[in-house]
Amino acid sequence: MDSGQVILAIDCGTTSCRTLAFDHDGQILATEQLALKQYFPEDGWVEHDAVEIWLNTLKTIRATIQTCKDINQLPVAIGITNQRETLVVWDRKTGAPIHKALVWQDRRTAEFCKKLTQEGKGERVQNATGLLLDPYFSASKIAWILDNVPGARARADKGELVCGTVDSYVIWNLTGGKSHLTDETNASRTSLYNIHDGKWDEEMLEIFNVPKSLLPDVLPSVADFGTAAADIIGMSLPICGVAGDQQAASFGQGCFEAGMSKATYGTGCFALVNTGNTPVKSSHKLLTTIACRSGGDVQYAIEGSIFIAGAVVQWMKERMELVEASGETEELAAALESNKGVYLVPAFTGLGAPYWDSEARGAIFGLRRETGKRTIVRAGLESVAYQTRDLVSALNADGYELKSLRVDGGMSQNNWLMQFLSDVLNIPVERSSTIESTALGVAMLAGLYIGFWKDEQDLKKCLGTTKAFLPKMDDEIRQQQLAGWDIAVKSVRYHAE
Ligand code: G3P
Repeated sequence: MDSGQVILAIDCGTTSCRTLAFDHDGQILATEQLALKQYFPEDGWVEHDAVEIWLNTLKTIRATIQTCKDINQLPVAIGITNQRETLVVWDRKTGAPIHKALVWQDRRTAEFCKKLTQEGKGERVQNATGLLLDPYFSASKIAWILDNVPGARARADKGELVCGTVDSYVIWNLTGGKSHLTDETNASRTSLYNIHDGKWDEEMLEIFNVPKSLLPDVLPSVADFGTAAADIIGMSLPICGVAGDQQAASFGQGCFEAGMSKATYGTGCFALVNTGNTPVKSSHKLLTTIACRSGGDVQYAIEGSIFIAGAVVQWMKERMELVEASGETEELAAALESNKGVYLVPAFTGLGAPYWDSEARGAIFGLRRETGKRTIVRAGLESVAYQTRDLVSALNADGYELKSLRVDGGMSQNNWLMQFLSDVLNIPVERSSTIESTALGVAMLAGLYIGFWKDEQDLKKCLGTTKAFLPKMDDEIRQQQLAGWDIAVKSVRYHAE
């Protein structure tokens, strides 16, 4: 292979840590991945070992750099993208986390958030941060750690602790503790960042009882985040692109302008519509969040978030042992004419948008004597499409009528599901040939900083082609199927009546 330069994209996701090396055409020349252990200590609690996140990430970086050397490619910069909201509190001196990371799916702070809602704080939180008052976001997780780890609040008050989302924790470790930073897309997921003023918000800090001294400084996604040290990763590299994974995916799908949208199917599914320089307040329980920008003024997006997408396949594989590999689900689902009235609602840790129901739990409806594995698998896949339809309906109601949906992420490889999605939404679904839009997006951000790519025009050359899935389902059948889903969702929300 000709000698050349590559950008390293580090993707610290919910289920794995990865490093990918992208060349100037946006091609992946090397990649390494390590799975991440999931901890479920109690109903609705989800944790990660932050040290494992760091050590796995480090191993994938070193291995990718080695492969780059072997194929005569020189890494020139690092971009970091990450599962958002997941929160780590660590010791300022030693760098040791004081508790496992509380993962974005974790609902342990539901009562606390409910109490704040009852006190009428919801509107103020939404106005300042663009977010709803929900355990999904980082603020209540910080407070939980400070109030439940013995001595933590006192140590925080003495300035001995710091905190951050996974990007921040990885940057800290890559720079040997020199940088305590995050970017504005990640900050906008904490419930502490004022998305209009671009600052940590004093009122939010008070509402959630979080000392400001713990928080990282916030930079735009394209900026100098410090240097990954040679004695840590084997060579010295600038970290100059950072973004939450969904915003990075949106950038990597080329959604640079207002009106452009994408949905990424990873552990969960997240649909974002770029709204340009205008923060749009949703009237249908969607989120207003900061999108990536390559320069200029802050860009915003409106977002719908589903907690369980790929995770339902993982559950069918690992917990139910219905399949040995995720890819098998496509054939099993395709072998059936219909779902035979069976619906699976994967509310394993409650429901995200547009329901925001922490107490809902999963259920399977419509079981019959002849119901077997194939029907359950199909119902699991279908649930992902139905949940997307709930998001798209909320977007439409907010005035963002989607004419088509761009998709990416691992689950978008499932052709049966993508066709079913198009049928349920009744719009074309366009799958990018680059399913790694998240990693590509953050590589693009880092590349822009060092001039590896000049501008958005230059970046567009990296974007792949798309395959379109067009709606084929008869409207009457679609309406019947959707009506069945609506009843199933209502049934898992009986407590909300
Ligand atoms: O907000 C949570 C999200 O960032 C997690 O993304 O790709 O791990 O499903 P993913």
